[in-house]
Amino acid sequence: MTFVASATRTYPKTRLRRLRGSDALLRLCAEHSLSASDLVWPVFVCEGHNKREPVAAMPGVERLTSDLLPACAEQALRLGIPALALFPVVAPASKSADAREAWSKDNLISRALQALRGCGVAIVVDVALDPYTTHGHDGIVKNSRVDNEASLKALGKQALALAESGADLLAPSDMMDGRIAYLRTLLDAQGFETLPLASYAAKFASHFYAPFREALKVRPQGRASVAQPQGAPRDKRSYQLPCANADEALWEIALDLQEGADMAIVKPALPYLDIVRRAKEAFAAPLLCYHVSGEYAALRAAAEQGTLDERACLLEQLLCCKRAGASAVITYYAPRAAEWIHETL
Ligand code: PBG
Repeated sequence: MTFVASATRTYPKTRLRRLRGSDALLRLCAEHSLSASDLVWPVFVCEGHNKREPVAAMPGVERLTSDLLPACAEQALRLGIPALALFPVVAPASKSADAREAWSKDNLISRALQALRGCGVAIVVDVALDPYTTHGHDGIVKNSRVDNEASLKALGKQALALAESGADLLAPSDMMDGRIAYLRTLLDAQGFETLPLASYAAKFASHFYAPFREALKVRPQGRASVAQPQGAPRDKRSYQLPCANADEALWEIALDLQEGADMAIVKPALPYLDIVRRAKEAFAAPLLCYHVSGEYAALRAAAEQGTLDERACLLEQLLCCKRAGASAVITYYAPRAAEWIHETL
């Protein structure tokens, strides 16, 4: 980048504050902007009828039964939000070590997709086994480890079931090696060659996911920290990215794009905007970032204490995601953010 700054163009000739002299000038010179089209709204879906269950760790967020989803979709349409992302809260009785409920006909997510058919907003669904496994891992555990190849097979079955149920966008969030190539080949062979994959390519092993796991009522179990002789690993560090590594995150994104991903997602959002920036510079593909449950909960808590202006801080955070290079942000604030954006215009 070249600046006009030189010996002849410094203060007092150059006064950057001139550009900040009025609202009109500020608006004219804005490099980035925020609109409702930049938002994806994650929604937790639970069993039952006409029921809303608050998520204690995420005040303002609820688990909804499928029959209430069309109203959410209508709200999204009205507000100009282009997509909902569904997350199933699977009943404990339907969980198992092999996650077979993930591809069983008529499971919770397929009924939710049925309820939303033709609703006019895109429906994004995660490909990952954590809502369905008793141990809470995204893959299949074998000999106390999350087994890559066994997980791919299960994820393939899940992805096909989701495609058949009418998902508009599949979002593999399991972080197994080779899963994008595996899923793309499988989907193409079954006639789903136009179904896009939004890969959670740079998904970090983050402590900011804690409220989400409460919302879904899942928790990776076991005693030792990574792999242990009995039971499952306690955390997801054997497949999600370490927060110390940025080059490796770029490598993950490059591989997923080569393997056939149509978009890449960086997750969480704010602490990882360096990854968004670098990926934006390195690749032409659309990039999304996920303002995750812990980021939502932290801002909500500060707002409830009266220490932060929730609306101003949230809109600032979202605009920073755009400035870093994200085309859209997945956020639990989506409906409120859209309202705030409309009020600001
Ligand atoms: C799991 C999944 C997680 C989130 C979305 N999908 C959590 C995890 O990896 O344990 C977290 C999202 C959030 O915190 O809002 N496949």
